[in-house]
Amino acid sequence: MTRRTLIAGNWKMNGSLAALGELEAIAAAAAAAPGIDVEVAVPATLIAAAAQRVPALKIGAEDIHEEDSGAHTGCVSAPMVKEVGAQFTIVGHSERRSDQHETSHDAYMKAAAAHRHGLSVIICVGETEAERLAGRAERVVQAQLEKSVPDDGDASWLSIAYEPRWAIGTGRTPSHEEIEAMHAIARAKVRQMIGDTALDMRILYGGSVTGDNAGSILALDNVDGALVGGASLTAAKFVPIIEAGA
Ligand code: G3P
Repeated sequence: MTRRTLIAGNWKMNGSLAALGELEAIAAAAAAAPGIDVEVAVPATLIAAAAQRVPALKIGAEDIHEEDSGAHTGCVSAPMVKEVGAQFTIVGHSERRSDQHETSHDAYMKAAAAHRHGLSVIICVGETEAERLAGRAERVVQAQLEKSVPDDGDASWLSIAYEPRWAIGTGRTPSHEEIEAMHAIARAKVRQMIGDTALDMRILYGGSVTGDNAGSILALDNVDGALVGGASLTAAKFVPIIEAGA
């Protein structure tokens, strides 16, 4: 089963209007790699400017609220980010699960809201180091998927990002065998939930992806791309990852 590689960036709480110049070089690298998809999630404050500055690059949100509007101070909704140019959103990122105490049900509701408004979605899952050391990584990720992934019989709008929390921002990554095993488990779980459409779904690896390790990680059978944090902030670091996926 061949799935188009997706190289996605996640700027997190970084960037500025001046930093949008990096997206121009990233968009140029994406245009030079027509066989893969490239997209970048930026802070909500930058979505409109980014979408206007680089219309050829798919810009996304890092999170959305599950409701369309209401008394939710500081939040943004799917229709709001879509209106200013977002084409996708991340939901359930481990930093929101830990910092904002978000649950897998929150991720489910956000993913369903994003899909209702025509956004594609990257749902993040991943275990803590303690869970991995206790041999519970598989069960934790399966449980997160079970509660996070909406089942509407079609997964064309959906990607999963497997991001072991202990690999995020640490320079550490699982072994290739561990990544391949977790991706295969994730695909099998989603397939059990929503059927063979899960075979079309892309499963991205995230957690300390760099230009040095991207090639070997992206070459793994069940890895369909990467969700990149720190190395997506500059073209100098992100373009080698795009080229590794091309
Ligand atoms: O969402 C991607 C992010 O969590 C990975 O971060 O800096 O380890 O690439 P980083």
